[in-house]
Amino acid sequence: MCGIIGYVGSKDAVPIIVNGLRKLEYRGYDSAGIAAFGKSGFFDVVKQKGRLAALEARLTDYPVEGFMGIGHTRWATHGEPSDVNSHPHLGNQGKIAVVHNGIIENYKQLKERLERKNVYFSSQTDSEVIAQLAEYYYNGDLMETVIKVANRLEGSYALGIMCVDAPDILIAIKKDNPLIIGISEHGQFIASDVPAVLEHTNKVYYLNDKEIAVLKKDSVQFFNIDKEMIKKPLETVTWSPDSAEKCGYPHFMLKEIMEQPKVLRDTINSAIGNGKNKNVMNKLDCSKFNKIVITACGSAYNSGVVAKYVFERLCRFPSIEVELASEFRYKDAVIDERTLVVLISQSGETADTIAAMRESKSKGAVTLSIVNVVGSTVSKESDFCLFTAAGPEIAVATTKAFSAQLALLYLLAIQFAVKLGKLTQESEQELLKEITALPGKADKILEQIDDIQKYASTCVGYKSIFFIGRNIDYATALEGSLKLKEISYIHSEAYAGGELKHGTISLIEEDTLVVAISNCERLYGKIMNNVEQVISRGAKVLLISGSAEKTPDERISMIRLPAVFELFAPSLSVIALQLFSYYVAANKGLDIDKPRNLAKSVTVE
Ligand code: F6R
Repeated sequence: MCGIIGYVGSKDAVPIIVNGLRKLEYRGYDSAGIAAFGKSGFFDVVKQKGRLAALEARLTDYPVEGFMGIGHTRWATHGEPSDVNSHPHLGNQGKIAVVHNGIIENYKQLKERLERKNVYFSSQTDSEVIAQLAEYYYNGDLMETVIKVANRLEGSYALGIMCVDAPDILIAIKKDNPLIIGISEHGQFIASDVPAVLEHTNKVYYLNDKEIAVLKKDSVQFFNIDKEMIKKPLETVTWSPDSAEKCGYPHFMLKEIMEQPKVLRDTINSAIGNGKNKNVMNKLDCSKFNKIVITACGSAYNSGVVAKYVFERLCRFPSIEVELASEFRYKDAVIDERTLVVLISQSGETADTIAAMRESKSKGAVTLSIVNVVGSTVSKESDFCLFTAAGPEIAVATTKAFSAQLALLYLLAIQFAVKLGKLTQESEQELLKEITALPGKADKILEQIDDIQKYASTCVGYKSIFFIGRNIDYATALEGSLKLKEISYIHSEAYAGGELKHGTISLIEEDTLVVAISNCERLYGKIMNNVEQVISRGAKVLLISGSAEKTPDERISMIRLPAVFELFAPSLSVIALQLFSYYVAANKGLDIDKPRNLAKSVTVE
């Protein structure tokens, strides 16, 4: 939530920062701003409510330039989206400029104290207190000032800080929010995420909590909070600059949906043979655990719901729970050193998932994460980490990372089952064969894109769309429903087919659409009973199925999936559902990559 970027170097900082903000817009997009240190010896600040395009328009009217600058794209927490609440924030004397990602929990107390000392606040944000406090403490030594400020702040922050007295120094510090430092031939960067700097460099440092980076045009130094210099490893990112571009697609979401066969292939390869993920899985002592808890948020949680069915069926493991991380963190979970806690997160920075991980570790549980972003907090702090090979995911609604999570979860379940003696070598090989066939089958669904688009164009008028499934198809229904509502703004809910009669059926009426998912051969008849029940109450039905023997009658529309082993069917159904949601939203002309009120990386509670 919120994206920050900073640059100091030999090129004009402003276009570099604006381009970087474009790559970070997925983190928040209700306002944006930039401060450049220009020839005037002061900060030139331009801030604008609205999308980044509004800031760009403003910059054409009020051009600014400089060799150092900081930029911000905002997802409002404290204070409505407005020009004045946009970042960067400056202290009263205009000496110190700050961009902030996170939440300062004790800002009220700090603000009140500063106000008593006649410091005037111009915004309603928590972030302004950082700039005001920095100016209050400033004694000519910027790093010392930053340390003093950091020691007073409670909450989470990633900060970029400049001072007019130090026109060649950009300082960064973070706690509980991500920040990377990029090193290029023409200058140095700070950024919330790698895609923001990829067009300039793939060499990055990952900042840890309370580490300070001091960036100059041609050097970067790191210090701990006691002002002692520290060394950090320079890492090479494998993502290509193209991976953060739309490459001709109208939206990142569509591009990312279409990338799924490759993502599945790369992720599967990483977890079989001598792949890196396979080595991590090998190290797990599965016999030590008597309980598995899978915890995550949003779509990542839904992939956990799928995994519960797979683990139960393949491993016959007695205790597997799936918990929303936001609930798990506060429930005083009954876990100990014999519990494996599996954390799933694309970003690796979701606040609730991080808190769940820390809570689990404090109780002695072993933590295994499934993460997409290298260097992220969850990947670094968990005991074991499996990386999804999805590449950067820019659209706010996850697609390819979800698919990659599923693939790793299937392979993890197989590994567990083998180690627990629940699978013969022969069955293991059969399952692996099924999994390696998934990318090819995903291609077959993508070939149906025109039909899905055509069907979706007839669905924009529905007020409610329900998703039903039984068993593992119910888990897929959860994801289908979330995808649709977040990008199309159509009300939607997911139900286990058997639950319909227990209340939900009262919502079914003329012009309701029910999307029925059916890949569990043995339950096909049951879900078709549900379909009949909703049709007789006026609903229209879309059936997504690989198990239907023949095309059902003309009352039912259908997306046919390739035949697939029941437990891995979510990987195929979900692609059809993603395309369906995408085209419903596209037909409504919505801003699909940046749905209202959402941000990709939920780094605050
Ligand atoms: C939905 C979506 C979100 C995320 C959730 C967790 O399309 O993307 O529900 O799945 O915010 O994010 P990560 O996976 O980064 O922890």
